[in-house]
Formats: sequence, C-alpha cells, structure tokens
Amino acid sequence: MTSTATLFTNIGELRTVSDLGTLHDAALVAEDGIITWVGAAADAPACDTQVDLEGRAVLPGWVDSHTHMIFDGDRAAEFEARMAGQDYAAGGIAITMNATRAASPERLRELLDARVHAAHLGGTTSLETKTGYGLDVESEALAAQLAADAVGDVTFLGAHVVPPGADPEDYVDLVTGDMLDAVAPHVQWIDVFCERGAFTEDQSRRVLRAGQERGLGVRVHGNQLGEGAGVALAVELGAASVDHVNYLTDADVEALAGSDTVATVLPACDLSTRQPLAPARRLLDAGATVAIASNLNPGTSYTSSMNFCVGTAVLQMGLSLDEAIRAATWGGARALWRHDVRGGKDRTGRPAVGTLVPGAACDLHVLDTSHAIDLAYRPGMPLTHSTYVAGVRVA
Ligand code: NIG
Repeated sequence: MTSTATLFTNIGELRTVSDLGTLHDAALVAEDGIITWVGAAADAPACDTQVDLEGRAVLPGWVDSHTHMIFDGDRAAEFEARMAGQDYAAGGIAITMNATRAASPERLRELLDARVHAAHLGGTTSLETKTGYGLDVESEALAAQLAADAVGDVTFLGAHVVPPGADPEDYVDLVTGDMLDAVAPHVQWIDVFCERGAFTEDQSRRVLRAGQERGLGVRVHGNQLGEGAGVALAVELGAASVDHVNYLTDADVEALAGSDTVATVLPACDLSTRQPLAPARRLLDAGATVAIASNLNPGTSYTSSMNFCVGTAVLQMGLSLDEAIRAATWGGARALWRHDVRGGKDRTGRPAVGTLVPGAACDLHVLDTSHAIDLAYRPGMPLTHSTYVAGVRVA
C-alpha cells in the first residue's frame, strides 16, 4: 500500500449499505478520496496515515437530495400560525422571494456557506439544492451560480410558484425561455412544483420537457398537498425522483414501483406542515425505491438534520433502521444518479456516494456511539462525531 492511503480503523459497526452488509471491528482504506479496501480491522493493510475511530459506528455520509438552501429571511410567524391551526399554502413562498431578492450576493453566499457547514456538522456529505426563491431571471441566475460553487447538485426551480402579479402562462414562457437560458450553465436538474396553487400538469410538463431538451435531469415536487398529477408525470418523463408524495393513489404507488423514479419522502416537512407522513412503508412494501431528504427551507422544513429525519422515519413511518439508513444514503444517491460505482447515469464522472465499497467516495459519517440504532433509540441527542468528505474531515 502506498503512503497516500489512509486507514480508518477500529470501527465498531461499519454499515456499508451494500451487499457487504454491516461489519463489526472493521476498517476501510481510502486513497485520493476513494475507498480502496473494506474489511475486518485485523486484516487491514498497513498505511502511513491512520485514523483510530475508537469503536464508533460509521455509515455513509447522508445524501440529502432535496434542499432549498438559497434564501434570506425566515417565516417563523407563519409557522407559529400554522401550529395554531392555519393550513400551509404555497403563497408563503412569495415572502421568502422578497427577502431573497433584497439580499446581496455576498449575504446569500454567507448564508449558503453556513447552511452547508451545518449540514456537514449533522453528518451530511452530499447535497442537492434548488433555486426557486428568486423567480426572476437575474435572481434565479444568481442563485444557480452561488449554488454551483457550494454543492454537488443544483436544480433549477424557477417553476416554484407564479410570482405575485404575473400571468401564469407568461411566467411559464419566461421559465422555459430566458430564465432557463440564464441558469443552464450552472444546473444539472430541473424541477417543478406540480400542485394546486402552483403549476398545473400541462404547465409542469412544459417546464420539465424544456429542461430535458437542454440536457437536464428531471425531478418533481408532487402530491404534497393532495392527490394530483405529479407522480404520474414524473414517471412518464423518467424523472430521477418525485418528492413529497404524501397523497398517493394505488395507481401512483404501482407506477413508482414499476419505474426507476425514486419516491423521496421529507419527514421533517410533513411534521412542520402537519400533513400526514408520506407512506414510506407502503412504498417500500410495493417495491418502490425510497429516499429520505431534509427539504431544508424556511417555509416547510427549517432543518437540515438528517439524523432527525432518519429517526422520525424509524419511529413514525414504520421503517427499520436498515431501511431508513439506506433511504438516506443509497436512496438519496439513487435520486441524484450517484449510486452506481460503475458510473451509471451520472454524467459528471464523479464517484458513487451513499455506499461504502471500493470505488465509492470516502464520505463517512462517524457516530459518537458504537451502534447506529441510537439514531432512533436516543432521538435528538448529538450523535454525529465527525464527517469526512472524500476522506477529508469537514466537521
Ligand atoms: O418543498 N413545496 C414546495 N416547496 C417547498 C416549500 C417552499 C416554501 O414554502 O417556502 C417544499 O416544501
């Protein structure tokens, strides 16, 4: 073994989220940010650099495949009113739009960097984030550019809501025209909020097809506030993921189970909006792929804590610990086309994430406990010990 390799050893419980399963008294070796060896600590090759994890549990870093990190302001008053009985409505997005448009690029960059750091502190190693609080050409382009400098996957969500005063059809023309032109150099994905109060099925299809024509992968916000066309549209267009999925018909579940489209559930959002928790158990039982993401945003989910989301999935959504960890790592990677160690659909040539096997990125979430079940057994406790991205400690 050459001296550039690092040995992470004395791992009490190594959850590989792969066919290798969970190993005890384990070790792994990384070279240039990529895992090159995984196995029993007693069999590990010698390396010049060694990190002793002192019996802690290690999992793949969380892959948070749905966030809205570029915004200024908060909506605490709206949240408090909701907790007093008001319903969530998409209209609140305009409040954040105004605050975000008013913020300087420097301030937005600072806020974004702080949010990325907070995510690292919680064990997250891969992040997707969306535009969608600018809603004019200039502000959306700025958000896309800032995001591209800070996170691995950027999604254009100009079609988040029709800004106040705009004509819906004219706005869709703008999103699929000048706005898409302006953001395209910075984004890999296109998304639409296909929901009552946001965009209709036809408008959503137009937006997503325009993105596909520009080579962008498709994601959909769907079936959050009621049954609707989001899931079927996502499956029709070969979307990587349809997110929220709170209200599903049997046909929706069947369509997801028979497709490559991941169903991304957002437990923190469901709690914060007092929607019924998305039916993750039913989706898994039907054979669909499920991801868990934080949905960090100021309106419906002001947290990036994937530990909280995973604990909630176990305690309240009926998932086993294995299922919840898999959904928040490998599932998130599937939702971003980053799960395949051989490259797969990811067109960027980046290593796979969300699994700890040779060939994948050495993205590690080290827990301050020897068993990962504490994520649900000791909910809310500070369980993240350290976080490594490509073999380098970031938190
Ligand atoms: O994913 N559902 C649409 N977008 C966000 C909420 C945005 C907001 O209310 O600010 C979400 O929940």
